[in-house]
Amino acid sequence: MDKLLIKGGVPLVGEVAISGAKNAALPIICASLLCGDTLNLSNVPRLQDVSTMLRLLGRMGVAVADGDGALALDSRGLDQPLAPYELVKTMRASILVLGPLLARCGEAKVSLPGGCAIGARPVDQHIKGLQAMGAEIRVEGGYVLAQARRLKGTRIVTDMVTVTGTENLMMAATLAEGETVIENAAREPEVVDLADCLTAMGARISGAGSDRICVQGVDRLHGARHAVMPDRIETGSYLCAAAATRGDIVLTHTSAALLDAVIDKLREAGCAIDCRPGAIALKAPPRLKPVSVRTAPYPAFPTDMQAQFMAIDCVAEGSAVIRETIFENRFMHAVELIRLGADIRIDASNAVVTGVPMLDGAMVMATDLRASASLVIAGLVARGETLIERIYHLDRGYERIEEKLTRLGADVRRVR
Ligand code: UD1
Repeated sequence: MDKLLIKGGVPLVGEVAISGAKNAALPIICASLLCGDTLNLSNVPRLQDVSTMLRLLGRMGVAVADGDGALALDSRGLDQPLAPYELVKTMRASILVLGPLLARCGEAKVSLPGGCAIGARPVDQHIKGLQAMGAEIRVEGGYVLAQARRLKGTRIVTDMVTVTGTENLMMAATLAEGETVIENAAREPEVVDLADCLTAMGARISGAGSDRICVQGVDRLHGARHAVMPDRIETGSYLCAAAATRGDIVLTHTSAALLDAVIDKLREAGCAIDCRPGAIALKAPPRLKPVSVRTAPYPAFPTDMQAQFMAIDCVAEGSAVIRETIFENRFMHAVELIRLGADIRIDASNAVVTGVPMLDGAMVMATDLRASASLVIAGLVARGETLIERIYHLDRGYERIEEKLTRLGADVRRVR
């Protein structure tokens, strides 16, 4: 298993390009299941999760042509509406095939994603919404078995804001009969990017980006071209790495408009941030001020940036409180940060972080995707060597991370 060896203490300086968004690419790839033509995508990040999703679609009969950030997905030959456990278990986002398969094929058999390290993460809202649209769904042997002659538009109110739930229902609704209204919809930019792609495919969607999405069903969708939006979490992670290392960086191929809450917090920490068209520049202060954050659905502070802010608070001058409200078990990085000398106390969903002047390198273990990013940030700051184990988590969501960090001057090496 690969490990990452970091020699810390070097400020990140220079310019790096941000990749396409993982959390937009995954649902958009699934959208190709909805039409019998070719969907051409650009700015697709090369990530483990994207490869897994392509393998899954390939097994269903989708022809995948893959070349340098571009994908052509031809689902004319789709004949196996089945997502088996061995592929779904590694990536919860596989549940995103459920809505499109049901809408296009009238049936689907999709493994339940099962437990996940950061919390229980059930899919009851996906199922409830599809049932409201007339699908017959039962769960048997760990699989969701769904059937529907043609889905029917209806009004759906989700119990909580769910990102992939909103995406699954929006995709299913594009081919339903009549109008579907999704209330309490997720407002994440990735939902908007998916809606833009579906609209280019001929779907009739309004309200994406608000908490009320209306979809007028159509008989069929057609092929289209779409460029995936920039990854706002990768952007935020590099900004945090620069902030923590007293760096001075410019990130290109990204947009500050996607990151209001994160940029506000970095300014509160004392960073000078210049938002330019398609780029963000950050210059860190000699010592960061502590910043308290509370995670919540977009446009509030993202749970996917919580671990990275915990890392920067570890070296700030004073104490901060980090409150996680989305996932019940998302502080696993704290114990690893403590191994590097951080002062963190956890009380249920609150973490009190008191900054220390310096962290010290050690061996640590990545436990999930964003937890891994926080360990990389801490390793870049720490004195001496940090060896991060289980970086397959990192490879699920950060494209060419060693190459990008090296370009910014970091001393980072993958150890096999
Ligand atoms: C997506 C993102 C993930 C991010 C998360 C929250 C993708 C591929 N992943 O995950 O990176 O951390 O949004 O911003 O886009 N819930 C239920 N029942 C459901 C659905 C969700 O109880 O049917 C709960 C979850 O357990 C969680 C909360 O709702 O507590 C939000 O989860 P959700 O927005 O669905 O997360 P994902 O879409 O899985």
